Amino acid sequence: MSQHDGFDRRSFLKNAGLTALAGAVGSRSALASPVAGLETIAATNGKFDFDTPYNRFGTDCVKYDQQIRVFGKDSVQVGMGIADMDFKVAPVITQALNERMQHENWGYLDMPKSFPDSVIAWNKQRYDIDINPESLVITTGVHPGLIAALRTFSPPGTKVLLITPTYNGFYSDLTYTGTKPEESPMKVVNGRYTIDFDDFERRIGPDTNTFILCNPQNPTGNCWSREDLMHLGEICLKRRVIVLADEIHCDFVTKGNKYTPFASLANKDVVRNSITFKAASKSFGLAAMKCAWFFSDNMDYVSRVKALNRADLTTLGMIASRAAYRGGEDWLNQCVDYIDGNHDFADSFIRSNIPLIKTVKPQGTYLSWLDVSAVIDRIGANELAAQANKNLAPGAKPLTPSQMVERWLVRHAKVHLNNGASYGVGGEHCMRMNIATSRKTLELALNNMASALKNPAPDKTLID
Ligand SMILES: Cc1ncc(COP(=O)(O)O)c(C=O)c1O
Repeated sequence: MSQHDGFDRRSFLKNAGLTALAGAVGSRSALASPVAGLETIAATNGKFDFDTPYNRFGTDCVKYDQQIRVFGKDSVQVGMGIADMDFKVAPVITQALNERMQHENWGYLDMPKSFPDSVIAWNKQRYDIDINPESLVITTGVHPGLIAALRTFSPPGTKVLLITPTYNGFYSDLTYTGTKPEESPMKVVNGRYTIDFDDFERRIGPDTNTFILCNPQNPTGNCWSREDLMHLGEICLKRRVIVLADEIHCDFVTKGNKYTPFASLANKDVVRNSITFKAASKSFGLAAMKCAWFFSDNMDYVSRVKALNRADLTTLGMIASRAAYRGGEDWLNQCVDYIDGNHDFADSFIRSNIPLIKTVKPQGTYLSWLDVSAVIDRIGANELAAQANKNLAPGAKPLTPSQMVERWLVRHAKVHLNNGASYGVGGEHCMRMNIATSRKTLELALNNMASALKNPAPDKTLID
């Protein structure tokens, strides 16, 4: 294990106040031999273990190690940024990977039919969607799939509709394709984000060919209703805008809420005007395995996008995703329940202990969207950003107040959250907090934040 930043397993435990769990968290050898972990996890009455903190420091992960590289040694105790989970994967995945590892050759892979079959069966069983096998295209990630679609339908210089705040990664897809965002900001009604359909339609111009829908929505956590989706779909059909439906977060739905696949809408013309992009990566914690897929009822769309989708399947990505779809449902259901409990915990903790932050429990995703307007005021984030921007290097992007909150929370609470301004119009006063971690780690992070935010003050050293 790399100890590049001097932030190793032992110091994680010590700093996190979790030293007593050292044995349970596992040692170097448990990492090297995941099958041992598998027995432990699978043994307990069919209950998977999401409670034991799983140390990710020193594994070159974005959530922890990248933040240490950016903010410095010992700066971050809990990573709550990038959208991946801190849990061990489902034992069936580890087992399948282990079996494949016994064959020590990694030459080119011919995709076995069993992989698309597993995707199709999973979609039928879990969401009652019938995917035409001819229309299913494997790609290396939702981003590469979206980029291929944008290259197909949205020439450089044209506009792509987004409902904001929205997943910040879409903006980089637009940069890749030389397209421009057309942002339709949502309205906030009783703390809940709602689509402004009139504004959405008004923003469609002659150079708007595509709309990227995020369902369930990152970062607000909204699960769009059938009516919302139909309304958007009908506008897009009428105005000849193709719907690119990113449904990567579909499995994380909190109690009482529902994910409605865009492909399940009753109006088949609306459905034929869309492409759906999905993966096992969010649901099963396989983000770096680089394996995703898209499909559409419109074979013309599929064949055109496929022509620009240069994707090689990775052996490990395919094995892991197939194992997840074939045998991971029980693990996923338990994981979704655990995340729901985390949302309840975070929601009530914040309400009782962090009055400067406002939030509502999301309908889906493992992300909490926090209104930090009062924190921005109390730490003088607007002034700090303005001051930092005075000495901006030519061509550099101006710093935002929410970036100041990001820095402030790292410095004073040792917790890393994503800054809201990166999610587009309407996100400027917010932060995104990823709660897909053990309850103990979540509690530690929230306690740190509560202490730091008891009496917050501006910190000029943040811009030194
Ligand atoms: C809405 C959404 N789409 C796509 C991605 C990334 O997908 P991939 O890693 O498959 O390219 C993410 C990751 O956070 C996401 O939240």
